[in-house]
Amino acid sequence: ADVKKIAVLAGDGIGPEVIAEAEKVLKRTEELFGYKFETEHALFGGIAIDERGTPLPQDTLELCQKSDAVLLGAVGGPKWDNNSKELRPETGLLGIRKALGLFSNIRPAVIFDCLKDASTLKPEVLEGTDLIVVRELTGGIYFGEKFRRDTPNGQEAVDTCAYNVSEVERIARQAFEIARTRRKKLASVDKANVLETSRLWRETVIRVAADYPDVELEHVLVDNCAMQLLRRPSSFDVIVTENMFGDILSDEAAMLTGSIGMLSSASLGEGSFGLYEPVHGSAPDIAGQGIANPIATILSVALMFRLTFGYHDAADSIERAVKNVLDAGHRTGDIAVDKSQAIGTTAMGDLIVQAMNR
Ligand code: NAD
Ligand code: IPM
Ligand code: MN
Repeated sequence: ADVKKIAVLAGDGIGPEVIAEAEKVLKRTEELFGYKFETEHALFGGIAIDERGTPLPQDTLELCQKSDAVLLGAVGGPKWDNNSKELRPETGLLGIRKALGLFSNIRPAVIFDCLKDASTLKPEVLEGTDLIVVRELTGGIYFGEKFRRDTPNGQEAVDTCAYNVSEVERIARQAFEIARTRRKKLASVDKANVLETSRLWRETVIRVAADYPDVELEHVLVDNCAMQLLRRPSSFDVIVTENMFGDILSDEAAMLTGSIGMLSSASLGEGSFGLYEPVHGSAPDIAGQGIANPIATILSVALMFRLTFGYHDAADSIERAVKNVLDAGHRTGDIAVDKSQAIGTTAMGDLIVQAMNR
């Protein structure tokens, strides 16, 4: 049979806790659907710094390059926060995205009806919310030149933000293609009233739009977008934006769904290969307690099935199972209204696995 090779990078903090639940889902998928997965774990992030002296060891990168997809938990934590740039877990994350050419980060924010009470926003504001943030992932201020220099007024730090036309074009095309499969509305988010990179971004998106006359394009300034996401989230369909704006807006969008513990993501390049990870981080404040919400990671597996393997039946099964478990009232602490009724990470994972069917 066709065996899919998945590199598993559990990482730090709650990373290994949520990855363990996602692996149960992989196993159940094999039993239910007859698909075959070969998983292999590798060191990545803080744990790789501790054991190998670098956040992204060469053999970890090579494993990813020879795999069909990567499943990633999260990296980082206070232990490494004062390290130099080369010895930071986050540098490994940026490095793996760049090395694998994953320029497009897809972050869907979908409301499960039964979770409307879990959001800090009013249920009537959330009604009908179903949006996707398409975040540019390998350019902008994250990857520009960085340095420090001495000035008469003390040390100065510099981060440069750069985008070229082809970087903007390829992410814009991805976003238009996705919008085409949905409600055909694209909001391009920038700061074109101030930033030169944003003016190039906007010109380029307008040029690409000529190939997508069926998609309605609007340009929204990022500060206004942050506000509109809370005022009228249901009016957004696909949002396309640069790296740092996308990082910030997707955490904001997470709260529409009730918790950052619900948001999955796919990082893609030109082909079908993808890296799948929850949008949240290693959550040092709750790591080791067995209370993290594994749903973001489990839904990232569903995204992997859909976007890299084309296993839509199995993806549907996972999404259905998550919905049924939530409908039945099961909640981890982050989405529980009554925190005393909250269940742990493994209990939630087990319930979802049990709820999977063909
Ligand atoms: P975070 O996302 O780790 O946590 C923010 C808050 O959300 C915390 O209160 C946390 O407990 C809660 N939370 C996050 N995921 C949760 C889950 N699954 N279930 C329940 N609650 C959850 O962001 P942070 O605290 O700003 O960052 C912590 C570390 O993670 C930092 O080192 C940061 O660099 C790193 N980080 C890594 C990634 C990644 O690996 N992709 C993403 C974001 C942050
Ligand atoms: C994310 C994270 C990363 C980012 C950090 C940990 C480098 O916040 O995946 O959203 O900013 O891209
Ligand atoms: Mn982030």
